[in-house]
Amino acid sequence: MTEKDLEYFKNWFSDFTKSFYSSNEEDQKNIMLKVDHTRNVCKNIIEITNDLSLDDNDKRLAETLALFHDVGRFPQYAKYKTFRDADSINHGLLGTKTLIHSDVLGQIPKDEQDLIKQVVKFHCALTIPKSINNKTLFFLKMIRDADKLDIWRVFIVFYEAPEEERASATAHNKPDTPEYSKDILLRINDRKIASYSKVKNINDFKLMKLSWVYDLHFNGSFRLLKERDYIKSLAQKLPQTNDILKAVAEINKYISERLQSVQTK
Ligand SMILES: [Fe+2]
Repeated sequence: MTEKDLEYFKNWFSDFTKSFYSSNEEDQKNIMLKVDHTRNVCKNIIEITNDLSLDDNDKRLAETLALFHDVGRFPQYAKYKTFRDADSINHGLLGTKTLIHSDVLGQIPKDEQDLIKQVVKFHCALTIPKSINNKTLFFLKMIRDADKLDIWRVFIVFYEAPEEERASATAHNKPDTPEYSKDILLRINDRKIASYSKVKNINDFKLMKLSWVYDLHFNGSFRLLKERDYIKSLAQKLPQTNDILKAVAEINKYISERLQSVQTK
């Protein structure tokens, strides 16, 4: 893939997303949320690759993945007016279909096309399929890190905004009740990610997002997470009970250990 290919992809993405712009304020807010998210995921992935010894081709490939990872969000919203996959369609799969249908990747080598299609398809899967080859897996982990980092930001902004300014399609249709799941706390204390199936209210949803720290792979991701204080910002939006504080302390301990292990290598 050449620098010119990447430029072409950026222009294509810009035209593609503009075709979904709307005069309806609510719809436009939701579309721009994903345009901004994509821009931030691109920045995150560049930061992550800067820590790694990748050649220029692989750096461009990583940036292309960030650019296209959520391409399915635009037709998803156009048709269903939501970003909740469970209530609409798997946006990873729809993204890959969108790339195939538009033939935007047609100019680059076939193996790179296949890698991009696979990574876009599985970037949001709960678990990574075992059948994926090592190179694809490497990039899949990278986009999942870059994506998670920005999803934390999106939700922190969402919870900090006054209700009328929130992008509605980000909201999850769960009640904002005071209790929280002990099962999710157990998962966090066991250093395991929690599943969305356990989420019964907004507190559980925030705890589930915190548990994602155990599915981060790259050193740069832990560095960015720490620098941006996302865990603290999200944790502050939960009830400050002893068991929640203990779970948050476990997460912070894990982050420190990961950063420490890099420094001592
Ligand atoms: Fe996504």
